[in-house]
Amino acid sequence: MTTRMNNKTGKKQKIISERAEKLSPSGIRKFFDMLADMEDVISLGVGEPDYATPWHISEAAVKSLEKGYTMYTSNSGMPELRELTSKYLKEKYGIDYKAYGEILMTVGVSEALDLAMRAIINPGDEVIMTDPHYVAYDSCVILAEGKPVMVPTFQKNNFEVEAKDIEAKITDKTKAILIGFPSNPTGAVMPRQKLLDIAALAKKYNLMVISDEIYARLTYDGEHTCFASLPGVRENTILLGGFSKAYAMTGWRIGYAVATEEIIAAMTKIHQYTIMSAPTPAQVAAIEALKNGESDVVEMVEDYNRRRKFIVKGLNEIGLPCFEPKGAFYAFPSITPTGMTSEEFSERLLKEEKVAVVPGSAFGKCGEGYVRCCYATSLAEIEEALKRMGRFVKGHRRR
Ligand SMILES: Cc1ncc(COP(=O)(O)O)c(C=O)c1O
Repeated sequence: MTTRMNNKTGKKQKIISERAEKLSPSGIRKFFDMLADMEDVISLGVGEPDYATPWHISEAAVKSLEKGYTMYTSNSGMPELRELTSKYLKEKYGIDYKAYGEILMTVGVSEALDLAMRAIINPGDEVIMTDPHYVAYDSCVILAEGKPVMVPTFQKNNFEVEAKDIEAKITDKTKAILIGFPSNPTGAVMPRQKLLDIAALAKKYNLMVISDEIYARLTYDGEHTCFASLPGVRENTILLGGFSKAYAMTGWRIGYAVATEEIIAAMTKIHQYTIMSAPTPAQVAAIEALKNGESDVVEMVEDYNRRRKFIVKGLNEIGLPCFEPKGAFYAFPSITPTGMTSEEFSERLLKEEKVAVVPGSAFGKCGEGYVRCCYATSLAEIEEALKRMGRFVKGHRRR
């Protein structure tokens, strides 16, 4: 690693901070670099909708640019957008968060997650999360100089997490529990009772719960339970939500954090010095999404549901046992019948059959033995991918 000498004192210093050193590169990105110059690859890799943003949403932003709305907004976000977000959360989940002081518009849930961690974590504080989990969770905790603590989850329990398993990991350093349901990568959804158990735990030990609900609208089997809507959790909860997945707006970079005034004030301080304000055209687009985008969401979710059923059935038929994901847009089949590690499986599948999936190990130790297949792609592509994967599995079945 490169070091430099301070010419005044003669002291050597490493160029790269220990904080950055500690981060491992995302297992997802590493994989996508490999397929950058391959042709005819079917990608079940990147977790984003295959739809373009509904045109009326894009058009609202285009028109605002034509009118010259190209300035910063208030640090917290446009008042109209915060008011609409507050109204949406009230109507959808019955929760009351004030547009002024309790909602912060961010550069996607990605920024909101980072802010939440940096606002509440002191060096050495522990944050409990599930394994497997979304790739940014542990990294954001490490960047905030906290310590991620894993609670293993398993297919036999539908990748749900039990309050008793979280409780077993609580120490005097525990500051927060980070949950993300519907889950990336497993597609698991938490039953309301299990969330109530976590809420009771958070209150018993006075812990914060950061709930990443970016996939809230992508649930296929009953209604989503918003953690913030559970009784008595207001003081303990930071709710993160966004537009990327539900409205097919990944590239716009717009999301939000919702919490008590004290927490939002702390997050806003960090946001104002590092980001200033979420992109103005994206905020205009998000306003249009909340005002007139509901039918688009419903239509896209119906379509994802058709693809979900198709891919889960197909994976089981080709000999990769797949638990039924109830949310998000990922299938997480077991690859144990091949005897390969998830990284070996993914690399060889890409090289031999030109299908890109993500090794489960990219999401934590408990992801080993699985691969993540994003089904936010056309049925025709899914069908072809399944055909290729079937051939691959047949040729590599463990004897
Ligand atoms: C669970 C989860 N949280 C957060 C994000 C980041 O979302 P955004 O585009 O809002 O930054 C993703 C993106 O894949 C995700 O899967």
